Amino acid sequence: MALPKPTLRLTDEQIAFYRREGYLVLDAVTTVDEVTRLRAAYDRIFADRAGRETGNQFDLAGPGEQGSEAALPQILGYAQYAPEFAETLMLANAKVIAQQLFGEQASANNGHAIYKPPRTGAPTPWHQDEAYWNPDFDYFSFSMWVPLQEATLENGCMHFVPRSHKLEVLRHQPINNDPRIHGLELHETEHHHLKNIAACPLSPGGATIHDSRTLHHTPPNVSDIPRRAVILGGAAPAKKRATPRRFPWNEIKKPPRLARALAAEARAKADQPPSEL
Ligand code: NI
Repeated sequence: MALPKPTLRLTDEQIAFYRREGYLVLDAVTTVDEVTRLRAAYDRIFADRAGRETGNQFDLAGPGEQGSEAALPQILGYAQYAPEFAETLMLANAKVIAQQLFGEQASANNGHAIYKPPRTGAPTPWHQDEAYWNPDFDYFSFSMWVPLQEATLENGCMHFVPRSHKLEVLRHQPINNDPRIHGLELHETEHHHLKNIAACPLSPGGATIHDSRTLHHTPPNVSDIPRRAVILGGAAPAKKRATPRRFPWNEIKKPPRLARALAAEARAKADQPPSEL
């Protein structure tokens, strides 16, 4: 894989801001040309429901019952369905930032894509990304959130709680406390942390990065256009924790996507053709 030449390096001031505040706004991690090209690929994989069969496409905010319209469709590992994302400038720049923040051994990857349909898109509730992950490890990572059009207050731009990355992982629960829902939300007993909120509108080509513990959310899309975003990751290898911890909100989750993923795995093992799910 050959990534394009990066066009970005964080300044010392940007690195200091990120370490202090837990997030950073970047004006240009990619070009308007790249954004326009990727938008077509993005629309194609959502229209094709790519990854649904293997549990990689599902409704982040709903139980995902058959036939119901997804309020907040998400695709995990979108680049495997759209080769256009494999060697992007945004990925090259994410890698440079990862190495600046976490050292030479750090790398970047394409993570997931979240689509907010016009006028009907659900909010992504307040959460810390680390709350989704394996509690046995300590993480050295950021998420880079890249909208594929302008991101505004109306269509669901990113919001952060500055300095919340200094907190431990707070109590979460599945959205609406429904274990069929993949998405997590900050438990209401933790809502006193939601203060000094920073909203981050972006022009096309811009992005935000945030730490794995930074509290963040996006409001619903009340505009007339779809809000498309991809989330890339930048990280150094996670380290096994000395002190164990538990994320009980993940232990109770039973999303239908998991059943699809397990069925796909079983089919792969048995080498059988896929059936409709
Ligand atoms: Ni997140």
